[in-house]
Amino acid sequence: MRAVVQYGTGGPDVLKVEDRPEPTRKSGEVLVRTEAIGVPFYETQLRSGLIPAGSAPGVFGHEAAGIVVEADDPSLHGKRVVTMSFTGGAYAEVVAASQYTLVPDTITPEQAVAAAVPASVALALMNAADVKAGETVLVEAASGAIGGYLARLAGQKGAHVVETSGNGKADIDHNDPDWRQKLPDGIDVVFESIGGPRAAELLAKLAPHGRILAYGLLSGEFPTFPVAGLVARGITLIGFGGPDAYGKRVAAVRAEALGLVADGTLTPVLDRTYPLADVAAAHARVESREGAGKVVLVP
Ligand SMILES: NC(=O)c1ccc[n+]([C@@H]2O[C@H](COP(=O)([O-])OP(=O)(O)OC[C@H]3O[C@@H](n4cnc5c(N)ncnc54)[C@H](OP(=O)(O)O)[C@@H]3O)[C@@H](O)[C@H]2O)c1
Repeated sequence: MRAVVQYGTGGPDVLKVEDRPEPTRKSGEVLVRTEAIGVPFYETQLRSGLIPAGSAPGVFGHEAAGIVVEADDPSLHGKRVVTMSFTGGAYAEVVAASQYTLVPDTITPEQAVAAAVPASVALALMNAADVKAGETVLVEAASGAIGGYLARLAGQKGAHVVETSGNGKADIDHNDPDWRQKLPDGIDVVFESIGGPRAAELLAKLAPHGRILAYGLLSGEFPTFPVAGLVARGITLIGFGGPDAYGKRVAAVRAEALGLVADGTLTPVLDRTYPLADVAAAHARVESREGAGKVVLVP
């Protein structure tokens, strides 16, 4: 099969398309012939080395949608699923995965990868934040996949949503280094994905007993908050990520998230699709931050 293998860390050209043996399926896993493969932002940080990863070379990628060709349960054969793998292997014509979710018939494979991870992360974050009608909610990087779903879900809850983006389509431009000074006062919930030391400036804008959900590091650094600032204002800081979030809270709501796409509550935004052979161009596109929505590889 054709697959993308990572040779070291660096620019998009460390990803090479090669012939590789098809993976074999362990008990509990499904073997899937892929139709669409997602390229989330964090994979560009893994590839570049900004986020430390396991040893290369190996087949790269984590999110794919496709048709089951082998499974413990024969009734799964021929069904469309979306798969999630923490150890790579998704940028390939065939993937073996233990974490998979059935895709409703009305959703295309491209829509499935555009929704499966980010919409379920957003849903799990909303559950952890317990957003209530009338609260003011800050969604950082609302132009991104998770941010876009968060803004939609918080709005549907009746919250007043303040968004940041770098494309001029939101209330606040997060490319302005002083953007946090321009936020309104009295924010109840922050969905924090940008990170960095200046995240501490958010504290002055939070309502007493506000909640911060730290779940990303788009700037390349986790946020820094002085404990004194949290204590003084009674702020709750919730770290959201890692295997616990994925393995339990996020995976638990994946079918619900795909259901919200199927019934039209959430709409996946697609940017561009690229053939698997053009994986370097796909990564360059994500890094350029010129598009909006999901970049998808088609094997
Ligand atoms: N905790 C978890 O369970 C979990 C799971 C998955 C992902 N994540 C994290 O969640 C974050 C968002 O992921 P995603 O898949 O939604 O990403 P995405 O769809 O690729 O969107 C990223 C957006 O962030 C903005 N951005 C990029 N670099 C930035 C920077 N340096 N400063 C400010 N904004 C920047 C860009 O918007 P503009 O072009 O408009 O600036 C881009 O559209 C990532 O940090 C990812 O690692 C966390």
